[in-house]
Amino acid sequence: MTPVEGIQGYIVKILLLGPQGAGKGTQAQRLARITGARHIATGDLVRAEIKARTELGRIIREYNDRGELVPDDIVVTMVMRRLASSDSWVLDGFPRNKAQAGALDDAMQAAGCEFDAVVALEAPDDALVERLSGRRTSETTGAIYHLSTNLPPADDPGPFVQRDDDKVENIRHRLEIYHQETEPLKDYYARGGRLLRVDALQPIDTVTGTILRAAEEPPVPTKLPRSASGRERYAHAS
Ligand code: AP5
Repeated sequence: MTPVEGIQGYIVKILLLGPQGAGKGTQAQRLARITGARHIATGDLVRAEIKARTELGRIIREYNDRGELVPDDIVVTMVMRRLASSDSWVLDGFPRNKAQAGALDDAMQAAGCEFDAVVALEAPDDALVERLSGRRTSETTGAIYHLSTNLPPADDPGPFVQRDDDKVENIRHRLEIYHQETEPLKDYYARGGRLLRVDALQPIDTVTGTILRAAEEPPVPTKLPRSASGRERYAHAS
């Protein structure tokens, strides 16, 4: 994690892996607030496209409503556009399979940069189902809360809504897909010596602290000069 002179925050590149409900969104929001990095959440991109009622949103909706992954070409294009416009990011919900991981690796390699931390948040399925059924999101701020473990502060006016895909049967199906397609990525990143496994059942603050400490060391081996913009770094991939 590299302090940046003249602007508030740090240049970070953090990848959050983990099953539905492990707390990727919760941690990504906090890490982005603390470091000033951009929070890139593929689930949010998907929901925004659906809400905008575009033709792409109509196609995406069918996958989302079934709890299935949106096709790789659509998601990879969405992510690469965001990476192209930011040097410092927390990536939440991407990659979800080996094809997506390969696309991200190619982009990172071409840009000459590396992850500060690849974090796997880990928790048993039953705990995840409980968390997701109690999850509520503020329509005003987008912040994520929980009915019993993570209540909204007084200054968030809400309303606090439940996500359409947080029905129990849907959650179980999403978890199955996670175990089949996304969980193998832990081995993929572990082989490169890049994986930090974190017990996601710990308190939210503890998890954030663990990730920040991991991102601080070793320092970011950013190989391109600072003056190169994110757009230049990722231009090939967009
Ligand atoms: P997405 O929005 O990414 O959903 P997800 O992966 O199902 O992950 P969640 O948002 O459910 O879980 P989270 O880990 O962020 O948990 P949270 O922080 O909210 O994706 C939605 C859909 O988009 C997918 O189904 C797919 O269709 C599509 N999609 C997205 N990315 C894609 C990709 N790359 N490729 C293809 N398709 C893609 O926490 C959960 C709850 O727990 C909250 O209530 C929170 O308050 C609470 N909590 C969190 N941490 C703690 C803690 N430490 N202690 C106590 N409570 C906690």
